[in-house]
Amino acid sequence: MKVTVFGIGYVGLVQAAVMAEVGHEVVCVDIDQDKVNRLKQGHIPIFEPGLTPLVKSNYEAGRVDFTTDAAHGVAHGEVIFIAVGTPPDEDGAADLKYVLAVAETIATHMDSHKFVINKSTVPVGTADKVKAMMAHTLSYANKSMTFDVLSNPEFLKEGAAVNDCMRPDRIILGTDSESAEKKLRELYSPFNRNHDKIIVMDIRSAELTKYAANCMLATKISFMNEMSNLAEVFGADIENVRKGIGSDPRIGYQFIYPGCGYGGSCFPKDVQALARSASAAGYTARVLEAVEAVNYSQKEKLFEYIYKHFSGDLKGKTVALWGLSFKPNTDDMREASSRVLMEKLWAAGASVKAYDPEAMEETQRIYGSRDDLALMGTKEAALDGADFLVICTEWQSFRAPDFELIKQKLSMPLLFDGRNLFEPTLMMEYGLHYYAIGRGLSV
Ligand code: UGA
Repeated sequence: MKVTVFGIGYVGLVQAAVMAEVGHEVVCVDIDQDKVNRLKQGHIPIFEPGLTPLVKSNYEAGRVDFTTDAAHGVAHGEVIFIAVGTPPDEDGAADLKYVLAVAETIATHMDSHKFVINKSTVPVGTADKVKAMMAHTLSYANKSMTFDVLSNPEFLKEGAAVNDCMRPDRIILGTDSESAEKKLRELYSPFNRNHDKIIVMDIRSAELTKYAANCMLATKISFMNEMSNLAEVFGADIENVRKGIGSDPRIGYQFIYPGCGYGGSCFPKDVQALARSASAAGYTARVLEAVEAVNYSQKEKLFEYIYKHFSGDLKGKTVALWGLSFKPNTDDMREASSRVLMEKLWAAGASVKAYDPEAMEETQRIYGSRDDLALMGTKEAALDGADFLVICTEWQSFRAPDFELIKQKLSMPLLFDGRNLFEPTLMMEYGLHYYAIGRGLSV
């Protein structure tokens, strides 16, 4: 099937690559000429396990191509995905200007029926806006072609995106048209083997499903972070509580890990956007607002521990920081807790020696060169000349470090762990003063 994807971001690129891999002929359109050129040369703009070989091999086989030529893209695809960004506007509501610009472009260039699929995470009611924009553009140009607009949200996780797209646990199809459902069932048939993963529903429910899924996960995390604060208040250990409640299958073990807050391009943005669109519709989404507020303060938690430990005197301190990305297996720093921490440390007069297995270039891009930030080539090098260590991201390579070496290199045997990677009793045996989230303020 001929498929076009507008927007070569995370979702668009991974979607295009897996569609091409199963034999669809895919054209990707983006306004960024430099990105398009680099992709043609095999440079993938994001770090995502398995993505580079997938894109390269499908490009070489001619199953996927990259262009800035929107007219060509529209002419090519009978199915057209909209996968452009929906960044928050000043109020935190999702800004639809890119989505609607693509809708207008499609209507401007189309000369046959198109199935237009919203892949971007968009507020409920966006499909109606896309339809209206296309209808308006067509009528303005005196064109009488028909089209369908569907909602087909994406549920991939960064760091596991290729696998999530290849083996989705569900495919949500929001549509009001039988022919559109038939077309999408055909498009997705290579991904829909073993049992039927396609769940068909009305468009607005599909749009809300995407937000509800992310907000439910974010709620689990903020709830656990709140419990970790209570564990500190009451002298309990949140890790015992986590195991205790996770064993109930109705709660489950997933997404109940307390930590220094959730980040990334999805949870913060989506919780905020749903809360804002609820309030614009006259409804106060109290749970969502609380989820957001808890996460905001949780991102300041590590700094609070540090500030208290030093009674506010951080001037001239050098901090070794392991983990910059918002989670492991990505170089993405959007809304990362490490950024809140670093910025607070700098404001308090401390400097940072940081290491991350993938996000060093991204850190450099965001912060540039500054005297109070040194980017180090290894986690051990980050310890050299540092006073104490902080961990913000649970990369595998941080899980079994050489504690003797850590103690030897730091000027103080002091470790702040934002991801609860170690047992406090073990840290005590190593003679390390250990702060973790919700495990008793320090041991
Ligand atoms: C999230 C969802 O998990 C995907 O299903 C969804 O498709 C995606 O957003 C999206 O809307 O595009 P992602 O942002 O890649 O995926 O990352 P997650 O693995 O969900 O982690 C998000 C954040 O929550 C990370 O900062 C992580 O450290 C934190 N987290 C996760 C916790 O603090 N505790 C947990 O128990 C789990």
